[in-house]
Amino acid sequence: MKRLFVVSVVAILLVATLTYFQPQGGVIPLEEERANVYFVSPDEYLRTRLRDSYLWDLAGNVKLDTVLLPVAPEVLKDKTDPTSGGFVGAEACAECHLSYYESFVETSHFKTSAKPSQTTILGSFEPGKSLVETKSPNLSFEMLAKDNKFFQSARLRVRDKTYAGEFPFDLVTGSGKMGQTYCYWKDDHLFQLHISYLVDTDCWINSPGFVDGTASYARPIVARCLECHATYFQAVEGTRNQYRRDNYILGISCENCHGRGREHITYHHQHPDSTESYGIVNPADLSAERARDTCRLCHGGTADANSSQDGQLPVLPF
Ligand code: HEC
Ligand code: HEC
Ligand code: HEC
Ligand code: HEC
Repeated sequence: MKRLFVVSVVAILLVATLTYFQPQGGVIPLEEERANVYFVSPDEYLRTRLRDSYLWDLAGNVKLDTVLLPVAPEVLKDKTDPTSGGFVGAEACAECHLSYYESFVETSHFKTSAKPSQTTILGSFEPGKSLVETKSPNLSFEMLAKDNKFFQSARLRVRDKTYAGEFPFDLVTGSGKMGQTYCYWKDDHLFQLHISYLVDTDCWINSPGFVDGTASYARPIVARCLECHATYFQAVEGTRNQYRRDNYILGISCENCHGRGREHITYHHQHPDSTESYGIVNPADLSAERARDTCRLCHGGTADANSSQDGQLPVLPF
């Protein structure tokens, strides 16, 4: 009995000692350190001056080590519209227009948005290339690949503790002619990841417009982005960046130029002998002006701030 008591006391002391002297190398979720972590709503983020007040002090210096995270958004409750607004995606056209489809999937239009994978994400996850240092010695990023899932880990050192937040690569935008930028879901809200990729130098970089020495995961991806870089996203009205997560169609598809395909396909399934097309736009039949409008939707010429002057492709509107 006495021996058991001694053993227990020794065991308790041992555990207590080990716990006390445990090395402080462990990683603590970013959310636990509030001193330089701010939670920002999409509205707040887009009201520029407010965002700037987090990132710059009165003298105009960058407040290093500042981390912006999105406030926990409200999740959508109503049901999904499975029809994707009459859009069907390019695969559905392949059945009858195979040659168009095969050449189309090689284009940067098709590749301009995609699910994350070892092939679609062009930046490297190899040790040595996956680390991004910043102007602040306390803040760095690491790109992580685990079981075909991909993350950006933002690491913040505060005294002897390391805090880290892992943000998934959920969507890839940019075919990779110049660069790519990445998005992640927080519930059904879509945000931009802090780190982007630049083809020229084959490097991970701060996303354009993001401030070196800070980490921002609160920038909302607004619908306008997706209108130019995807076929279909159903935005929730009255919100900045809330979308249905199960009926979107990535890549610019046939339907961005030819209009929604569902009616056309249904008709031709019901009339397999018809050689007269029904329910689809052929830009060749439009007036030159209207045909050009098809391209101008995304390539300048509109009044949108993101677009450039007539005739030129727009400047990267990050
Ligand atoms: C079930 C077969 C079928 C499917 C699937 C189909 N089409 Fe067609 N499409 C046709 C037929 C038949 C025609 C008329 C003959 C032709 O021009 O090839 C046609 C014609 C067209 C034309 C020319 C229209 C014109 O007025 O000259 C376009 C553009 C077109 N389709 C686009 C699409 C797109 C985009 C999709 C996918 C969203 C699609 N088609 C899916 C059968 C199909
Ligand atoms: C008005 C249409 C439009 C909007 C809005 C738009 N883009 Fe783009 N984006 C383009 C076009 C067109 C290009 C190609 C530019 C070029 O080739 O000069 C492009 C290029 C890019 C590229 C580089 C692609 C590559 O392969 O190099 C990325 C990344 C990108 N956009 C992301 C975004 C993000 C993120 C947003 C929203 C914040 C956005 N775009 C909003 C039309 C748009
Ligand atoms: C960037 C815009 C764009 C995209 C994307 C696109 N097309 Fe087209 N397509 C056009 C234009 C413009 C024409 C008419 C001029 C021409 O023939 O080049 C056309 C012509 C066609 C025609 C021929 C109609 C005829 O005159 O007989 C078919 C069929 C067609 N497209 C199907 C597709 C399919 C299927 C896809 C996707 C796999 C697709 N297109 C993607 C712009 C586009
Ligand atoms: C829905 C938006 C959208 C429409 C409509 C659209 N484009 Fe584009 N286009 C883009 C975007 C975005 C890119 C850049 C893709 C990337 O590299 O990620 C692009 C890239 C291109 C490129 C560069 C391709 C390359 O491989 O370098 C050309 C050329 C082009 N578009 C021509 C056209 C023409 C012509 C039309 C009209 C028939 C058209 N586009 C319609 C959004 C659009």
